[in-house]
Amino acid sequence: MLKYAFVGVVLGAVSSPVLAQDAASGEKIFNQCRACHQVGETAKNTVGPVLNGLIGRKAASHEGYSYSTAMKNSGLTWDEATFADYIKDPKAKVPGTKMVYAGLKDPAKVADLTAYLKQFDATGKKAP
Ligand code: HEC
Repeated sequence: MLKYAFVGVVLGAVSSPVLAQDAASGEKIFNQCRACHQVGETAKNTVGPVLNGLIGRKAASHEGYSYSTAMKNSGLTWDEATFADYIKDPKAKVPGTKMVYAGLKDPAKVADLTAYLKQFDATGKKAP
């Protein structure tokens, strides 16, 4: 038992500094999304909705964007687990979504991308 507890503590200790780098890696991954999505204080809805303040937001709730019926009826809230599930295969999670994206399969990349997106609050201000 003690041995396992110790491993947990060590993993916890090393994961913090690694997390600090996740957002930078996530910013590069977000390049795959930029064709359709914007973040930041001047972000606008384009092909897809603005993704500011995404984590914690209800699906299909960004003002001024015309969502598909499928997304409007999904009943989802973008907590981290739901977002991770969606982004690995959008059409499986929300059948009928108009987001055309094959999916991001690597869980580490999804975590980095989430860390990047989490920096932006609902107004698009980026946490330091
Ligand atoms: C080819 C364009 C395109 C690409 C690339 C794309 N998306 Fe989307 N995305 C959309 C569209 C269009 C919607 C609206 C879907 C709907 O209404 O069914 C959407 C919706 C979303 C939503 C739901 C937002 C909400 O307000 O409920 C999230 C989250 C999302 N996209 C994240 C991403 C991320 C992260 C990436 C990159 C890994 C990405 N998308 C890549 C077009 C795209």
